[in-house]
Amino acid sequence: MSDGKSTLITGIGELVTNDGRPEDGKQGAFAAISDAALVIAEGKVAWTGPAARAPAADTAVDAAGRAVLPGFADSHAHLVFAGERSGEFAARMAGRPYRAGGILVTVEATRAASDAVLRANLRRLASEMLRQGTTTFECKSGYGLTVPDEARGLALAAEVTPEVTYLGAHVVPPEFAADPAAYVDLVCGPMLAACAPSARWVDVFCEDGAFGADEAAAVLAAGRAAGLSTRVHANQLGPGPGVRVAAEAGAASADHCTFLTDDDVDTLVSTPVVATLLPGAEFGTRQPFPDARRLLDAGVTVALATDCNPGSSFTSSMAFCIALAVREMRMTTEEAVWSATAGGARALRRTDIGHLGVGARADLILLDAPSHAYLAYRPGVPQVAAVWQEGRLVAGAT
Ligand code: NIG
Ligand code: FE
Repeated sequence: MSDGKSTLITGIGELVTNDGRPEDGKQGAFAAISDAALVIAEGKVAWTGPAARAPAADTAVDAAGRAVLPGFADSHAHLVFAGERSGEFAARMAGRPYRAGGILVTVEATRAASDAVLRANLRRLASEMLRQGTTTFECKSGYGLTVPDEARGLALAAEVTPEVTYLGAHVVPPEFAADPAAYVDLVCGPMLAACAPSARWVDVFCEDGAFGADEAAAVLAAGRAAGLSTRVHANQLGPGPGVRVAAEAGAASADHCTFLTDDDVDTLVSTPVVATLLPGAEFGTRQPFPDARRLLDAGVTVALATDCNPGSSFTSSMAFCIALAVREMRMTTEEAVWSATAGGARALRRTDIGHLGVGARADLILLDAPSHAYLAYRPGVPQVAAVWQEGRLVAGAT
């Protein structure tokens, strides 16, 4: 903690540490201790173990049998936008299919919005996430699609998170409809040059109606040459080359993975690419959910994230995604919680978050429930009592 004081949280009914070793395959292991305690010092986890053996600290918090988990790591979100598309959602629920073209509605609203409006919307969503236990989130651009609009989106995102992703290759904007190749050149050239200083990642929507394999590979290669690490929107709306393109680019993560061939699964097993599943998008578009069991049983590392955006998935709730993953994707409660914490950390190539081993960043959640299972067992019920970020109580109360 920045004030130099240590905090003991004791009386923890279940402490999810996620510091278990994977037995085989790549998925790390959920691990928890019951009747536990944890000490925070200097913003980090300084000690974990049985409550009966807990050392003294400057201040003490009694969890009174409730569960403590690592903060959620939401590795996929599109939070820089203006406007909303509830009418499109309602029409979809009435039977109209989801199409990538809806993105352009948000592009128009975002371009027309002032910095102040975009910043206020972004900050509202960021604090909504924090209150729900998300202590790390990724944030993409992709609703500007001009050099100045993408650059300002990323500068705004960098105000609220270090995990900033350049998604100039979200869709081809209308002014380039007749010459998509010229748009790819812009994304790989002047737009990248203006955006790279604010970003850590480059992403591309590799899908029919967005960008094909060669275009996506070109965007990722240009981003890498500019010092960015890569991630890909892959296989969301149908089978396609996204997972292969992600693997060839050395991407940290292939996101969505809703329509996969056996070859795609083999690729994910044999490379370090994390499969990030976004069940909020399947919920919001009434698509089939991704086959998480097939991936987990094959040994793929799986992350869960919200995909929070105004079109396909307007939820900021990792708890909701966990509940969907358990109920609809047949993940166990342990797997889903691991994927929403340690899995997200892997998808962001972070080793300091997603677990509560000694030395980890003290990003943690006190649940108003005795175990992690309640996140799926009591869907839709707010259960995050308190949130610490780098050892500081930033939301709720103990
Ligand atoms: O991840 N797939 C592309 N982008 C978003 C959808 C964005 C939108 O519809 O506005 C997604 O689902
Ligand atoms: Fe997305």
